[in-house]
Amino acid sequence: MNIVILTGAGISAESGLGTFRDEGGLWAQHRIEDVATPEAFARDPALVQGFYNMRRAEAATVAPNAAHHAIAELQRDGRHEVLLVTQNVDGLHGAAGSEVLHIHGRLDRALCAACGHRWPAPMEMRVGERCPNCGAGAGRPDVVWFGEIPHGLDEIDRTLSAADLFAAIGTSGEVYPAAGFVEMARAVGARTVELNLAPSRPGRFDEVRQGPATETVPAWVAELLA
Ligand code: APR
Repeated sequence: MNIVILTGAGISAESGLGTFRDEGGLWAQHRIEDVATPEAFARDPALVQGFYNMRRAEAATVAPNAAHHAIAELQRDGRHEVLLVTQNVDGLHGAAGSEVLHIHGRLDRALCAACGHRWPAPMEMRVGERCPNCGAGAGRPDVVWFGEIPHGLDEIDRTLSAADLFAAIGTSGEVYPAAGFVEMARAVGARTVELNLAPSRPGRFDEVRQGPATETVPAWVAELLA
């Protein structure tokens, strides 16, 4: 089968990383417009670099959990074509051995706002971080801010149009274009399943598997590999 999997912050929650919109989540602690937009970076680069330095430091202390490992096993098995798309920037899918498309970028990479060069991000990025390629002091986190274009949308469109199964794991389905992938999958007749603590939007998926990802994802993968 052709399977497309979309993951969100909920898959990393049991590894110890906060989500965005759950009780006490990141957007309860920081305003998006202060730390996650190009305008915020232009207005107060120290605050924005500090926000991502804190998240980069946190991500360096956690490990993939059983859900990340189950998806990597599904990909390694090879019987199914699996495109894994994540909204997460924490690097945990890659750490579990998955091939993964980071549509919102990644904390462990830096981007030069002047020449577009990418390089491994230092743990602490400073204001005016120097680009190793062009020398401009224009280094920024290689993450996609609100108002910017997510990565890999063409590949996702192509793969979704041939999907047999679409699974959304640990995402509230609040942020587009990722939130629209389930409708695209249904439009081409793919089966759709949501694995989440609670249904994000009742009626949106053919099937909902409720529970913590470290329980629901390994069980789901075991069925696919039975
Ligand atoms: N197991 C499964 N699902 C969980 C778990 C868990 N242990 N813990 C939380 N969840 C679910 C929540 O029920 C919620 O539906 O994970 C989802 C987390 O939703 P959000 O915090 O909105 O995270 P996400 O959907 O990834 O946000 C999408 O928004 O802020 C932007 O760029 C940011 O990539 C992020 C995007």
